[in-house]
Parts: sequence; structure tokens; C-alpha cells
Amino acid sequence: MGRNVFITGATSGIGRETAIAFAKNGDNLLLCARRKDKLDEMKQGLEDLYKVDVTVFELDVTDRAAVAEKVPAMIESIDHVDILVNNAGLAQGLDAFEDSSIDDMETMIDTNVKGLLYVSRTVLPYMLKRNIGHIINLGSTAGIYAYAKGAVYCATKAAVKTLSDGIRIDTIESDIKVTTIQPGIVETPFSEVRFHGDKEKAAAVYAGVDALQPEDIADIILFASNRPRRVQISDITIMANQQATGFMIAKK
Ligand SMILES: NC(=O)c1ccc[n+]([C@@H]2O[C@H](COP(=O)([O-])OP(=O)(O)OC[C@H]3O[C@@H](n4cnc5c(N)ncnc54)[C@H](OP(=O)(O)O)[C@@H]3O)[C@@H](O)[C@H]2O)c1
Repeated sequence: MGRNVFITGATSGIGRETAIAFAKNGDNLLLCARRKDKLDEMKQGLEDLYKVDVTVFELDVTDRAAVAEKVPAMIESIDHVDILVNNAGLAQGLDAFEDSSIDDMETMIDTNVKGLLYVSRTVLPYMLKRNIGHIINLGSTAGIYAYAKGAVYCATKAAVKTLSDGIRIDTIESDIKVTTIQPGIVETPFSEVRFHGDKEKAAAVYAGVDALQPEDIADIILFASNRPRRVQISDITIMANQQATGFMIAKK
């Protein structure tokens, strides 16, 4: 469809599958993450397969100065951004609040909340100038239902929902759309990152449950982006079939 879609955290999981879904749809991509080698691989693969333009750049969304310097330059190099998918995010640790590492807490807040707002605050004025644009933020069922040992992660995802709602209010007179996507359990490297690389602990999260796959979420993000200009989807919550709240999951 020839739109320019900017996706943060595009090297893995939901971000990666979302990039593939938009490329298949004929959209051009602006992709960032910290792992540039993975971005370069994606660029080559997607351009060869889908004949779309893919621009990649290394960015740590928690680095406020880097966002301020790199994001405007990248947007200007591709002319404009139609859709921003704020996907970069992570959980660190699964511990009772009193035992949680303050470093882990800060990493989650810096990435999931501050990173998202640095990028959005930079991109939104470009969208407003053209009076069109769509910001799609990755929240989580964790932002709706707090769960044991996840207080700070859950709080960051509740913040994502509230930030989305606030931005939607502030842009009400424009044709900017803001959508929060709130997935339940999705099988990605997310748990390996949460458990600081412990593959066994990560695998146990998905054992015995038919978890959502990242392409399921990508499909829904693409759907939300493909509505007519008059239609704004505010939130979509997606759970696995055997899931009832953020952490209530029936396992076989
Ligand atoms: N998996 C789930 O069950 C689930 C459920 C609900 C919501 N979510 C949300 O969905 C989003 C994607 O998660 P996922 O499951 O796809 O996890 P993932 O496979 O671990 O992917 C996370 C992505 O974020 C990027 N990232 C992390 N920190 C970053 C930083 N400081 N700057 C730039 N990029 C950064 C990573 O890239 P680099 O390491 O290359 O930087 C990676 O591409 C997150 O916001 C997560 O909270 C996940």
C-alpha cells in the first residue's frame, strides 16, 4: 500500500513479524532496535522478497539524545511516517516487589514508558504537520490485570494505555489515530529476556499452553492500520484461548 511504517524493536518477536506483515502488504519500512546486524539481515530479506523500501538504523529508545538526533534525520530521509508502531519493550525479572532489582525496574520504566514517549513526542509533530498519522502502542493484558511478581512491568503497560488515551485526547481535532494493542501470552524471546537469558525458565512459561504467536499480533496490528480514515480503533485486547486474565492461564 506504499505507506511508511516506523517500527521500534523490529529485530525480534512481535516487532519482527509486524515488519514482515507490513512488507507483505506492500508498505515501506523504517526499522530500529539495538541489534544492527539483525536489522541489516531483515532489510535485505524483506527488500528482496517484497520489493519494498526498508531503511534501518540502530537506536536504543532509552537514549533520549540519540532519539532526538537520529529519529528526525531518519524521518526526513524517507519524507514522512504514516504509522508508528511503538513496540520496543521488555520485562526484567519476575520477583516479589520487595525482592525486585531496582536496576530491572528502571530498565522497564526507561524502555516501556520513557522510550515510547521520547519516540512519540518526536514523531507526532511530523504527523500533525500532514494532519494524518497512526500511532500504535504495544500495551499488554498486564496493563489491565496486575499479576504477582510483575508489579513494575504491569505498571509500565498500564502507563502505555494511559499515554495512548492522553495523546488521543490531545490530537482530537486532527486526523491522527492512536491505538493500544494489548496482547496476552505471546511466544517470543520475551521470557528469555525477562529471565536474563535462562532458556529453561523461559520455555516453562509457554509449556502446556497454545500461546499466541507473534504473527497473530502482527495480523491484528495490520488490520487496525487498514481501516478507513474515519475509523479509529482505540484498543484491542487479544488473549490465548486458554487465557482469562493477564496471568490466569489453563495449562495442560
Ligand atoms: N510476548 C508477550 O507475551 C507480550 C505480551 C504483551 C505485550 N508484549 C509487548 O510486545 C512488545 C514486543 O515484545 P516481544 O514479545 O516481541 O519481545 P522480544 O521478542 O524480546 O522483542 C523485543 C524487541 O524490543 C527491542 N528492544 C528492547 N529494548 C530496546 C531498546 N532499549 N531500544 C530499542 N529496542 C529495544 C528488541 O530489540 P534489540 O534487543 O535488538 O534492541 C526486540 O526487537 C513489548 O513491548 C512487550 O512488552 C509482549
